[in-house]
Formats: sequence, C-alpha cells, structure tokens
Amino acid sequence: SIKACLFDLDGVLVDTAKYHYLAWKRLADELGFTFTEQDNEKLKGVSRMASLDILLSVGQLEFDDAKKLELAERKNSWYFESISKMDHSEILPGALEFLKACRENGLKTALGSASKNAMTILNNTGLTPYFDAIIDGTHTSQAKPDPEVFLLGAKALSVSPEQCVVFEDAEAGVEAAHRAGMSCVGIGSADTLGKAELIVPSLQEMTIDRLKELNAVR
Ligand code: BG6
Ligand code: MG
Repeated sequence: SIKACLFDLDGVLVDTAKYHYLAWKRLADELGFTFTEQDNEKLKGVSRMASLDILLSVGQLEFDDAKKLELAERKNSWYFESISKMDHSEILPGALEFLKACRENGLKTALGSASKNAMTILNNTGLTPYFDAIIDGTHTSQAKPDPEVFLLGAKALSVSPEQCVVFEDAEAGVEAAHRAGMSCVGIGSADTLGKAELIVPSLQEMTIDRLKELNAVR
C-alpha cells in the first residue's frame, strides 16, 4: 500500500518556472540571441548546468567550462533575486491542501527536487514544515531522469520504492519515478506526461481517494 508521497518542487508546488525563464532569457539577451518561452519548455526539470548547455545550443554558442560556470552563476544570481521575494501567495493551487491531507491520512511526505535553491523557496513560502524529508540538488549527484533523488527520498522516509507515489510536472521526472520503481502522478497535460499512471491539471484536482484508486490499479 502507499505510505509516502514524494513531490517535485518547481511546477508542482510553486510556479518558479517563470523566474527561471526570465533569468535564462536575460542571459540569452546579454549573449545576443533570442530565447523564447517555447525554448524554455526544454529546461523544465533539467539541472542548472544541463539547462545552460541547452540554452547555449539554442544560441549556437560554445564556451569552456570556466566560462560556463560563470554564466550559470550569473543566471542564478538573477533567479535568486526573484525567489528571495517569494511568499506563501506563490504556492500553486491545491498544493498546501494536498500536503496537509497526506499528513492527516498518515502518509509521509518528501521533497524530491533538482534545485539547489529549494530551501530558500520552501522557507520563503512557508512549506518547509510539511515535509518529513527534503532531498534537493545539494544532495544528489545524478540529475533526473536518474532515479537517485527519489530513491534517497524513500530511504530518508524508511519506506520502499513501491510504497511511494511521485508528483511531477516534467517528463524527465516521470521517467525518474518509474526508474525508481515508483508510480507517478503527472501535474500538467498528457502531451508531455503521457507515461504517468494518472494525470491531473494541478494538485487542486488531487485527493487521497484518487491516490488510493491509483494503488488499486498497480
Ligand atoms: C528544476 C527546475 O526543479 O531545478 C529546472 O525545473 C532547474 O528548471 C533545476 O534548472 C535546477 O535548479 P537550480 O535552482 O538549482 O538552478
Ligand atoms: Mg518540476
């Protein structure tokens, strides 16, 4: 039976994608090329350095590792300015309610995020107390679709992977959940998340009953 819910952060609990986009776009502007919102879709769920590589390929630019590190740090300083101003109003609809419902029903909760900025976001939005374990980009060495982040989450909660359900908005995250041996609820549309066991537009449509139905299907 399901004992734990593991949540991605960006795009599932908070809408930080817009801040990532603005910061990447500013970098592209400085480098002299156009970076569209459509290009940005490819960066969702992807680690910071892998995102930079995708961005640079859009601009058809190549740099050495030292320069790339500098560019990634520049982007992150702009992104950090945005998330420093976040508060609880930027929690996505239904997210807080569902986290509370999990805990009221005896389910453990963990964060499973690629972001190295996760703690700033969780603290500024007031979400930190709703997690029994927090695994983020400072704890992992392998990026999604590698299952590492979710396996570390299960371990921290002392539950086995088949007792976990992952909530993800990115294709790479759905794959990471499956590679960890966990089922996955996709948050968003079937276009990108088709492989998830259940897809809902947002956590507003998610209930403990739907979670149990998911379990019956497995
Ligand atoms: C993921 C986001 O959660 O974290 C990506 O979807 C982001 O867009 C990645 O690049 C890494 O985040 P950060 O905060 O460490 O740069
Ligand atoms: Mg995400």
